[in-house]
Amino acid sequence: MSLRSEIVHLEELVCRACEGDKEAQRQLPARFESLRREAETLIKHQQELITLYEIARELASMVNLEDILDLILTRALALVKAERGFIVLADEPASQESFRIAVARQFSLEEVDDGEARLSRSLIGRVMGSRQAIVTTNAQEDPRFQSSVSIVNYRIRSVMAVPLIYERELLGAIYLDTRITERLFTQEDLALLQALGNQAAIALHMAQLYRNLEQRNLELQQALAELRATQDELIRSERLSAVGRLASGIIHDFKTPMTTIKGYAAFLGRDDLPPAQRKQFAQTVMNAVDILVDMAQEILDFVQGGGPLQMEPVPLDAFVQEVVDFLKEDFSERHITIHTQLDYRGVVSLDKGKMRRVLVNIAGNARDALNGQPGSFTIISRRQDDQVLLELIDDGPGIPPEILPNLFQPFVTYGKAHGTGLGLAISKKIVEDHGGTIAVMTGLPKGAGFVITLPLP
Ligand SMILES: Nc1ncnc2c1ncn2[C@@H]1O[C@H](COP(=O)(O)OP(=O)(O)OP(=O)(O)O)[C@@H](O)[C@H]1O
Ligand SMILES: [Mg+2]
Repeated sequence: MSLRSEIVHLEELVCRACEGDKEAQRQLPARFESLRREAETLIKHQQELITLYEIARELASMVNLEDILDLILTRALALVKAERGFIVLADEPASQESFRIAVARQFSLEEVDDGEARLSRSLIGRVMGSRQAIVTTNAQEDPRFQSSVSIVNYRIRSVMAVPLIYERELLGAIYLDTRITERLFTQEDLALLQALGNQAAIALHMAQLYRNLEQRNLELQQALAELRATQDELIRSERLSAVGRLASGIIHDFKTPMTTIKGYAAFLGRDDLPPAQRKQFAQTVMNAVDILVDMAQEILDFVQGGGPLQMEPVPLDAFVQEVVDFLKEDFSERHITIHTQLDYRGVVSLDKGKMRRVLVNIAGNARDALNGQPGSFTIISRRQDDQVLLELIDDGPGIPPEILPNLFQPFVTYGKAHGTGLGLAISKKIVEDHGGTIAVMTGLPKGAGFVITLPLP
């Protein structure tokens, strides 16, 4: 009888008893008792549901396979008050015979493997093969196990096992038994264990997915590292051969300052040279040496790839101002005005030395392009989404169209007596090492412009 009709029936009985119906009065105690039992069962079921819900929640927050297995077994034992148990995981491909004990309680793992519990193994085999749960209320009398020595020897009273299946895939099984106590498993226990088994199968599936994902991730990372190493090697050898191929060109570039030095050094040796001119010639020699040192350094940097970055947090506006101060004298002598519009005043993560080389090279290119003509050089900084933009614009003749497609390639130089053509290639490498980009600005009415993006810390 359902609880609702039980209550209706009881109400009628109470009414009749109140009216003095003797039969109703006689039946009342038994009815109350029956209702009490119903209520107790309901409370028990409610408690079980809460427990299952809690287990599901706990499982949902776990990804580690061992932790998940441990939790499932602990909770399964407690849920149906079993004494011993273990969980097996199916090998791939899953079969009745091939599974391994992943976690066990009150069994030692060797025990399970060695035959003490041959019964348990054969039972699990049967569950895995049929994909059907099994419960024996009394194993000692169950005809299915009468031939089993373990049942008798190990005084197994009641056994229960459920398969763990996720979307038709057999993942494993849970085995539980009771030995010493008098407790026998019931169909209700089996239903509970099956409900837990369903949750467990989902969690195991997720854990396996996660593990596979981690494994794939690891493989990808290794492949990426190998790729990077090969790429670095390739870049390095490409650089070396590029340097080799262009060595003669560079030596040619070296000749001009060398000739200057030689000529002026000869002048300096003369006794009749007025002091003012001596000073001027010495300066010319020093400038030529500076050019040589710069060229040599650029080639070296390029061949070596520039070395690792020394990153530090740097306020961008102060950094740009430092570069401007450095350029100021040289530029004002050449009548080039430097303008700044530093709207971004925050901090960026930079290797100051290397980033200074980038700005100085771009500024140097602008100065060279103006070729003695008065002009202007503008530096703008601003934020765009999660990046900082640095724009460097001059009003010179603009970049020669013939080199534009290969502008950032090494040794691309045009219209300069002493250009090695490495400045922009090195600048690009440095900016990209910072996680940024560098590009030529398009659509300017006049001159040339570069835009550098840098990620915000
Ligand atoms: N602002 C600019 N205006 C006009 N042309 C430019 C400008 N910046 C670069 N270029 C052109 O791009 C070429 C390549 O520049 P890059 O800095 O890579 O090498 P370089 O200046 O020639 O030599 P290096 O910088 O190694 O001394 C320059 O030779 C020049 O022709
Ligand atoms: Mg340059």
